[in-house]
Amino acid sequence: MSWNIRKSDELYNISGWGNPYFSVNRKGEIAVHPKGLPRKSFSLKTLVDQIGERGIQTPFLLRFNDIITHRLTCIGEAFESAIKEFNYTGKHAIIYPIKVNQQKHVVDQITKFCDKKSSGLEAGSKPELLSVLALSQKDTTPIVCNGYKDSEYFEICLMGTKIGKPVYPVIEKFSEFETLINTAKKLKLKPTFGVRIKLSTYGSGRWQASSGHRSKFGLSVTELIKGVALLKSKKMLSGFKLLHFHQGSQITDIGTLKKSLKEATRIYAELIKIGVPLEIIDVGGGLGVDYNGSNTAQDSSTNYTLQEYANDIVFQIKEMCDSLKIKHPTIFTECGRAVVAYHAVLIFNILGISGYDRFKVPANIDTPAPLPLKELLDIRKALSRGDASVMEHYHDVISNYHECQNLFGLGYLSIHDLSLAEELYFSSLKRIQSIIEKEEDLPDEIKLLQESLSDIYFGNFSVFQSLPDHWAIDQQFPITPIHRLKEEPTRNAIIADITCDSDGKIDTFIDPNEKRKTLKLHPHHVADDYYLGVFLVGAYQETLGDLHNLFGDTTAVHVSMDHKNRPLVEYVVKGDTVKEVLSYVQYDVDDLVDMMHSQIERAVRTNLIDYKESGNFIKFYETAIEGYTYLEDWEAKEEF
Ligand SMILES: Cc1ncc(COP(=O)(O)O)c(C=O)c1O
Repeated sequence: MSWNIRKSDELYNISGWGNPYFSVNRKGEIAVHPKGLPRKSFSLKTLVDQIGERGIQTPFLLRFNDIITHRLTCIGEAFESAIKEFNYTGKHAIIYPIKVNQQKHVVDQITKFCDKKSSGLEAGSKPELLSVLALSQKDTTPIVCNGYKDSEYFEICLMGTKIGKPVYPVIEKFSEFETLINTAKKLKLKPTFGVRIKLSTYGSGRWQASSGHRSKFGLSVTELIKGVALLKSKKMLSGFKLLHFHQGSQITDIGTLKKSLKEATRIYAELIKIGVPLEIIDVGGGLGVDYNGSNTAQDSSTNYTLQEYANDIVFQIKEMCDSLKIKHPTIFTECGRAVVAYHAVLIFNILGISGYDRFKVPANIDTPAPLPLKELLDIRKALSRGDASVMEHYHDVISNYHECQNLFGLGYLSIHDLSLAEELYFSSLKRIQSIIEKEEDLPDEIKLLQESLSDIYFGNFSVFQSLPDHWAIDQQFPITPIHRLKEEPTRNAIIADITCDSDGKIDTFIDPNEKRKTLKLHPHHVADDYYLGVFLVGAYQETLGDLHNLFGDTTAVHVSMDHKNRPLVEYVVKGDTVKEVLSYVQYDVDDLVDMMHSQIERAVRTNLIDYKESGNFIKFYETAIEGYTYLEDWEAKEEF
């Protein structure tokens, strides 16, 4: 049966991870639904083409701010619904931790929502706090301050309190009690604050080390009790309003959250019993994102829905409070990833391919050739005829090629014959692969063959800059071509970036069952554009990204949708220029131009170049230094 968009949807599991923001349209292109509505969408490929016509080249990051608002609305509504269902008498507030994505336009979008909905922001450092204090214009917007603190950090928090903002510094380690008490005394202020507890219950997934006894954050129960006594003695217990815990990012298994909630709510209730005037329970972040669309407890997924998450939190807190006749507290959630991951898509173009199809079968070997080389030719011919057992041929190809290599090492095989052996080896393996590709239950050695014979598609981007979590912790992001989805993708490929680093590649891909080592892609036509999108990259990636090989920030294009469902480019944040990245590593570009000038003049004096060439050269140098750090003027080619 011929290929269709349904098969592409299934292959890349787009409905699994993309719903309700990404789908495949009838033209075989990825459609974006910025408001999460099935009928309101536009084509990502059309948008990329329109951006290209404006002279903005890939790679770039597309940001759909409407998706952020939609995510915040969904989270708010899930909690409202849970509060109603369980007759919870307290409130819920979303607190966005800006470390997850601190970009000004992103935080502005979220602050607009927060100011309207009594939601708030979380800061984890002094720079984050200083920006958050200024950004939130409403005095009802709560600000939670995590991270280790010195007296200056506390002073900034208390300044916020003094000007009427609900700022909650959260004590993360015991010594911070003293620092807070001393700072408050110095400023003659009664602080309102929280304490982070270290739960014995472990979280789940890749970030579970943020929880448990060995966690780097939070206070043990013993420290908590000592802290309460200290606060009492200093007459500051009345400010202890918030109890905080955080089980780590990307909670994959709802069961672990339930257990943590039981432990945390029990501690909350016990603290109330001993006279701590708590009013807020902050359950931290961790609401996961289903990156592979499998809806399971795998690292790249979650085995629960947003509504289940909200229900469990509200229900567990209510149960504990009701059983001990305690007032229902306000619930803060610090979801970051689940708010911003969906809104950003990295788009890059494929520059070229390196594959194994280039190896040809010679008709005959002219010169008297050693036996293993002749054998390789005979096997290759047998494979073309489709003779006998493929596995037997496979083993013979391997052993004969190794013998040819040995003979070359010993000086009995010329470099031309070795090249012939290489051609026969790879073309035989490719042939074997294509014969048995569609068979089920492939032997392991053949599965490995598929991986090792996959194509390398070179993408115009840097893994280190744009997908640091893939490089550092093997996090999986969904990747698909954004067009040609009506065509069958027949190539097995891995993706290499343009850094000079062998780690600069993507060779594991999402799969609902297990990680895939290759991605199905379309044959790359000479001179045609081929664009891939890496989705759900809005959380953590940008600030973590680094300047390896001096590839800088990509351009970010903020896009909304007009009333006719057309994409509207709201603003463009230009990516780093060469000049900028050089200045990050302390180069003075004017100095570089001067130094280049004197070398060019030297070349003129020694007649290596003429005056005109020297003028052109320096102009070229100056233009390149003002340009984008990525490849701007590429030509798609079938490569060697
Ligand atoms: C204290 C705290 N709150 C919130 C978050 C955000 O977590 P997530 O992005 O998984 O929601 C983090 C991140 O690990 C955190 O450390």
